[in-house]
Amino acid sequence: MIMNEKCFHIKTYGCQMNEHDSEKLAAMLAQMNYLEADRLDQADLIILNTCCVRENAELKVYGNLGEMKHLKEKNPDLILAICGCMMQQNHVVEKIRKSYPFVDLVFGTHNLHRFPELLVNAQSMEGLLVEVWDNEEEIAEDLPVERKYVSKAFVNIMYGCNNFCSYCIVPYTRGRERSREPEKILEEIHQLAAQGTVEVTLLGQNVNSYGKTLGEKVDFADLLYLIHGVPGIQRIRFMTSHPADFSEKLMEAMANLKKVCNHLHLPVQAGSNRILKEMNRKYTRETYLDKVQKLKSKIPGIAITTDIIVGFPGETDEDFEDTLTLVKAVGYDAAFTFLYSVRTGTPAAEMKNQVADEDKMRRFNQLVAAVNEMGLANNQRIMGETLSVLVEGISKNNPDRLTGRTETHKLVNFAGKKEWIGRIVPVTITDAKTFSLLGVCPLEDDDV
Ligand code: 5AD
Ligand code: SF4
Repeated sequence: MIMNEKCFHIKTYGCQMNEHDSEKLAAMLAQMNYLEADRLDQADLIILNTCCVRENAELKVYGNLGEMKHLKEKNPDLILAICGCMMQQNHVVEKIRKSYPFVDLVFGTHNLHRFPELLVNAQSMEGLLVEVWDNEEEIAEDLPVERKYVSKAFVNIMYGCNNFCSYCIVPYTRGRERSREPEKILEEIHQLAAQGTVEVTLLGQNVNSYGKTLGEKVDFADLLYLIHGVPGIQRIRFMTSHPADFSEKLMEAMANLKKVCNHLHLPVQAGSNRILKEMNRKYTRETYLDKVQKLKSKIPGIAITTDIIVGFPGETDEDFEDTLTLVKAVGYDAAFTFLYSVRTGTPAAEMKNQVADEDKMRRFNQLVAAVNEMGLANNQRIMGETLSVLVEGISKNNPDRLTGRTETHKLVNFAGKKEWIGRIVPVTITDAKTFSLLGVCPLEDDDV
């Protein structure tokens, strides 16, 4: 048999949805006998899986394309492909055509499953091959997936978004909301469990509206009950939840189902009702805080994390103060904080009252300080507790330590045996930092 000895390297930008798409691309390439290369200069095929949620992510891609040009000059047989959210925008594809003529293949988010055929076609022709679909007619099922970890896996439950938050490009690049059939999701999770997966993260832009395109025969809470019944799966996570659609029924499901982790990522984006309205978020600070209160009383010890945008058009110091007071009222365990970034094609990009950069930066720094202080205080509160930790691997900073995550999604480093990787073990927390915890595992001495 003649083996194809070609190597690929995928660079992924952006969210978990993109990371999971890259896992699918890697699996398609494995089926084509490609091997994964650690370094760009070892690869015969480089794929950039792009993100366009904020301008920074786009700038990174253009920066990396400069580097690709040199690699192409050194190795004219190198195939360079670009995919992901950026490619769903016409002006980006036009810019690639004009300014980066050495790119071989461009495809989008809706035709990922067409990649093997597109690759073969791109290899056999000169110049750039572009195939970007505006919509995905049907969800492509049964794509292979090359999982990064055995113990934990991402599972798409839905695609696209119908919310049209006024700052966000995602509804334009990922298209309309579409839910996968529950049977297909369960089949995938049963297979994962059979291969040793203990934790699944259900992915969707707004998991709380799961099922709407299926004639409402099953909603997200129902889906959680179904997945909870899969033997072998010990932890269920999900992201992202839109606060407007976060129902009492879902809260009950989270409280009742032991395998659903006591962590909720609930992006608030802003604390001022006026800004929330301009953002088209469809909830108020009061209804948000009310849901958080109920969650905390129903699920003691739940960790709540969020996304916050600073400097949305028209945001005043008073509006920002509302964000700060909301952040303190919730007492988040962690928050992703973003400077508002103008996205062409979104309603907010047309708003006249853009905030000056220095005001944005000042508020951003204030917010980060508040969030970090709170994160540290929350971490300090759990010192001395013994928590179950899914061991993910060896710590990057200290090869003598293992690293893993608590149910509340906190990162814990502790001494232990390599054989524990992929298992859930108890860890007693001995030290708290802003972004991680240190601990000791009581199993250490017994487990010979
Ligand atoms: N500018 C800044 N942040 C944004 N996000 C989405 N669009 C923008 C934008 N135009 C943030 C939101 C979202 C997260 C994934 O990215 O906080 O929840
Ligand atoms: Fe973007 Fe809003 Fe949809 Fe999230 S819910 S993907 S922020 S439009």
